Amino acid sequence: MDNNNYAHVAVKGNEAPKPTANVGEHIDTDKIKEDFPILSRDQNGERIYYLDSASSSQKPIQVIQAMGNYYASTHANVHRGVYTIAEEATRLYENARIAAGRLIGAAHPEREIVFTKNVTEAINLVAYTWGRANLSRGDVVLLSEIEHHANFVPWLMLAEEKGVELRYIPMDKTYNLDLSNLVQLSAGAKLIAVTAASNVLGSITDISKISDVAKQVGARLLVDGAQFVPHRLTDVKSIDADFYGYTGHKLLGPTGIGILYAKQELLEEMPPFLGGGEMIADVRLDGFSTTDIPWKFEAGTPPIAEAIGLHAAIDYLEQVGLDKIAAHEKSLTVYAIGALTDHFGKDITIFGPEPSDSKDRAGVVSFKFADIHPHDVAQVLNEYNVCVRAGHHCAKPLMRCLHVPATTRASFYLYNDEEDVNALIHALEQVKKMFG
Ligand code: ALA
Repeated sequence: MDNNNYAHVAVKGNEAPKPTANVGEHIDTDKIKEDFPILSRDQNGERIYYLDSASSSQKPIQVIQAMGNYYASTHANVHRGVYTIAEEATRLYENARIAAGRLIGAAHPEREIVFTKNVTEAINLVAYTWGRANLSRGDVVLLSEIEHHANFVPWLMLAEEKGVELRYIPMDKTYNLDLSNLVQLSAGAKLIAVTAASNVLGSITDISKISDVAKQVGARLLVDGAQFVPHRLTDVKSIDADFYGYTGHKLLGPTGIGILYAKQELLEEMPPFLGGGEMIADVRLDGFSTTDIPWKFEAGTPPIAEAIGLHAAIDYLEQVGLDKIAAHEKSLTVYAIGALTDHFGKDITIFGPEPSDSKDRAGVVSFKFADIHPHDVAQVLNEYNVCVRAGHHCAKPLMRCLHVPATTRASFYLYNDEEDVNALIHALEQVKKMFG
């Protein structure tokens, strides 16, 4: 079987197991929690309160089973064997690609979705291939101050190597991107690369506006959707993104699988990334030729079980409904910010936009708590089974803008509810007693 044949098998059938969570008009978190075994694990005689989904989400039983079933019944390498289980494995893997594209509205998922290890690798792929082929000294890449390191360092490396000029969209006083000088900042830009939602602030980027300006100045648009795709409906066509990255483990799927969407014509012209098996059409002693997209960018044995787990996660999210998930997280975030502010007043500083009806905001609440170091806060919270992240959140330039070395961050997903927020508040009261 040769690579050119996979697209037609990919569109047939869908073996991923169906979610059992039967949600009504609103999310029933008790019902949802039943699907996540880890949320009922015992830690010192009590359940855990998991408030770190921006770092990595938990996994429903449907995802765990899909991966287990695959290993138990279907595992073989993909794109190679002509025997039954190898063909089944190939079909499952390529079906996952279709699902990964469908989730973000890709026009041609069978050609425009490349599986990587994570978003970091997806952005590096663009920097190494498109960037090195298309950018040279003096060309401008426009980023923002609030990016994750994954969307800084590949470009800083390119700036060092090729003399590319980096510019940054600043953050405004409301913790949103200040787009007032976007046209001037974008002058001469060949690429604008921004996050769709901040992993620290919860602010959501006005990608449509940035996309309009990118088109106006002739720049390509790359979007880091790591914190957006798991929580909001995404449509790469409506924002006319050239490159869009997201990751499996933040959307109920496994670790070890990231997704790079890129327009077909860009993938066609980009040089390959990693070299090896799978990505070639021919290899001779004096050279090689590459195979078709997207396999040209998938050297070596790919993350097969992870793709199958990702597919089950996407099915689960679609079954629950991303619109419902977004509404649930919004109301929980309003509750959390209101309750934290009411309880702790001046002792808490929240770094992120005020929740408002007019502007969307993600369920990420970063804060400084009474001058207590975030690591101490997080460690005491753990005594009360409350799991939060403390640190710079891989956003050191943003920490400098905020004038703090680190923050404590609680982040929400579809399985969180007011009980989790109340547990956080109770545990923070104990932190205050201990350090106050
Ligand atoms: N990017 C992940 C976070 O924000 C790891 O925690």
